[in-house]
Amino acid sequence: MNHTITLLPGDGIGPEVTEAAVRIVEATGVRVTWESHEAGLRAVEAGRGTLPEEALESIRKNRVALKGPITTPVGRGFSSVNVGLRKALDLYVSLRPVKSLPGLKTRHDDVDLVVFRENTEGLYAGREHEVVPGVVEALKIITAAASTRIARYAFEYARWTGRRKVTVVHKASVMRRSDGLFLDSARAVAADYPFIQVEEHPIDRVAMQLVLDPTRYDVLLMENLYGDIVSDLCAGLVGGLGIVPGANIGEKCAVFEAVHGSAPDIAGQGKANPTALTLSAALMLRHIGERVAAARVEAAIDHVLREGKVRTGDLGGTAGTRDITRAIIQALPSPSEVQA
Ligand code: NAI
Repeated sequence: MNHTITLLPGDGIGPEVTEAAVRIVEATGVRVTWESHEAGLRAVEAGRGTLPEEALESIRKNRVALKGPITTPVGRGFSSVNVGLRKALDLYVSLRPVKSLPGLKTRHDDVDLVVFRENTEGLYAGREHEVVPGVVEALKIITAAASTRIARYAFEYARWTGRRKVTVVHKASVMRRSDGLFLDSARAVAADYPFIQVEEHPIDRVAMQLVLDPTRYDVLLMENLYGDIVSDLCAGLVGGLGIVPGANIGEKCAVFEAVHGSAPDIAGQGKANPTALTLSAALMLRHIGERVAAARVEAAIDHVLREGKVRTGDLGGTAGTRDITRAIIQALPSPSEVQA
């Protein structure tokens, strides 16, 4: 079967890591026609706006995209293309599996959790205005509908993947109405899953516990801003941004991308670690039903990391993006060697 998938190479290290992920997917033998579209800085430079309609149309048609990171200027210029994309396609689920990888020495060696972040509202609704000079108001939007659907997705995920506990993360002691509504919505959904343990933890406690003992968590469910911060914290627990994948999922389409950004400090130097985006591509392969290919890619990455000979700078090595891409391709096991 041939799959048509939208490819957004993005900015900064985006084109380097997407090229690597595409090469690795193609090396599995899965047949893909890539529809490549610019978005972000490169689209602006080409005079096409930040998020060209053709790119959105392509994702709507194909229902699946692989996306490199896109730069957002801080406090000026255009607003976040990433947030815009998630809103335009109603990609309400941000799913970020965080797992210790073999051969990478970190403080904890048995991390295995999944962060679910509500992707469309909260403070990221982007409703900010100046009340009077020197005073700015930012609105945190929480709705029962959005809170309920992300909670439902997280509990369904826990059910289907055999995970046993969902921790709902909040700060309802201070944001009584907004986080209170998120919490109430999650409680109502949780009632349908009596076989899954549920706990409610304030975000500050979660931050501390994650650093002390991340193994006490299984599925973490939270609103947008907390999820953004916790995802990066979790990436730090397992070796950094270069290795943590992610997916943005809606009712109609899904966009797969790494947790990391466009890394302008190393862009264009061939140094970026393509592992995070390649693992995101593996999630994508599973999503489109190519489970064996997904398992082969993951096994190849495990092998290369365990061996420890070819590593990019972020993991203490000296290899370049293309070196590790080649090593992963060479390490791909045969289909019969993996359990899909
Ligand atoms: P960043 O994730 O781009 O970089 C943070 C640090 O991690 C840098 O030192 C960078 O070199 C390193 N790093 C990140 N990914 C790496 C990789 N694959 N291999 C090796 N090292 C890696 O975060 P930062 O600097 O806060 O953001 C840069 C830009 O990216 C901003 O414009 C931001 O808005 C954007 N961004 C985009 C995202 C997306 O498109 N989904 C997500 C996060 C940030």
